[in-house]
Amino acid sequence: MINEDRLWNRLMELGEIGKQPSGGITRLSFTKEERAAKEKVASYMKEAGLAVYEDAVGNLLGRKEGKDPEAAVVLVGSHLDSVYNGGMFDGPLGVLSAVEVLQTMNERGVETKHPIEVVAFTDEEGARFSYGMIGSRGMAGTLSEEELVHQDKHGISIAEAMKAAGLDPSEIGKAARRKGSVKAYVELHIEQGRVLEQANLPVGIVTGIAGLVWAKFTVEGKAEHAGATPMPIRRDPLVAAAQIIQMIEQEAKKTGTTVGTVGQMQVFPGGINVIPARVEFSLDLRDIDAAVRDNVFQSIIERAQQIGQERNVKVTVERLQEMPPVLCSELVQNAAKEACKQLGFDVFSLPSGAAHDGVQLVDLCPIGMIFVRSKDGISHSPEEWSSKEDCAAGANVLYHTVMRLAMGE
Ligand code: GLV
Ligand code: MN
Ligand code: MN
Repeated sequence: MINEDRLWNRLMELGEIGKQPSGGITRLSFTKEERAAKEKVASYMKEAGLAVYEDAVGNLLGRKEGKDPEAAVVLVGSHLDSVYNGGMFDGPLGVLSAVEVLQTMNERGVETKHPIEVVAFTDEEGARFSYGMIGSRGMAGTLSEEELVHQDKHGISIAEAMKAAGLDPSEIGKAARRKGSVKAYVELHIEQGRVLEQANLPVGIVTGIAGLVWAKFTVEGKAEHAGATPMPIRRDPLVAAAQIIQMIEQEAKKTGTTVGTVGQMQVFPGGINVIPARVEFSLDLRDIDAAVRDNVFQSIIERAQQIGQERNVKVTVERLQEMPPVLCSELVQNAAKEACKQLGFDVFSLPSGAAHDGVQLVDLCPIGMIFVRSKDGISHSPEEWSSKEDCAAGANVLYHTVMRLAMGE
């Protein structure tokens, strides 16, 4: 069994970094908060007896050697960045549990055939640049320098933020791992949904991860005087945007599985007595079936264009990022099932509605995830919570899953 108190104390300690007056956590990539979190976790990795290093995209790694130095590495981890005003478990639970697993192994003198590395991926959330999974894409070798043009709210690009953090954007290729060099990737994460709670179970095994598309909508009309412009002649992009957002809700609801969210909106020039000239808003659209999601996205674009024509405003849609839905490997799912049986937990499987770094690694290695029950299913919120007992249950399942993956052939 892992050390439940040590894991919990570290979770609470890490949860102080980036804490807002509201109680939520804002720890965006390449900021001093994220740096402080990485330093804190590096100190835990050293306590655990791991060799600590950072790769060319800023992924923080802690390595435990295997008996066979040539054997492919088992990767275990998650991320340390957060969304704006997020919770303290999304990401940190997976990183700290991985450290805890390796510390427990080292304390017991457990040696494995395969080396094992804990990874804290750079920018999983995509909160800062509306573009995410930078670290896992770097490791997969699919991140290109052209992608580093995406900017944050202040006009700082990913490349500029990397430079400010001491990284060289022209070197990102060095973070790529060779195919065959990674035996498997396994991540422990909070469920962020209500399925485990409703099933009254602390832990579940993930079957697959939903795919998402992120897009930016721009609606352009005509800025005029709010008092002197009669209603019939206005070309108001904000009213058109309101209609488009309602339509997005209708389209997403039609399938029964799709979810669509508008989480960002900016109105220009933003005066109380000015009809807006331009409105920009985001779309996050997801489904476990890529074809269903793409059909919904297509309908949304077509209907948005119609609304634009009816209201005499210009609607443009830019795709920002797209991730396919992926299935978790039999290798990791079976190892996790055996671990659950060994520990006396029910073997229960469920899909992930949220996206995770494993999506980016599927062409590099077999991937899999273990979920821990979330209180009321809430996440990406200061109210995010999982109990100490459930976190420990998940970390114990992770321990035995990693053991199986790292011992075997
Ligand atoms: C990450 O948490 C995401 O699913 O957006
Ligand atoms: Mn996460
Ligand atoms: Mn998240």
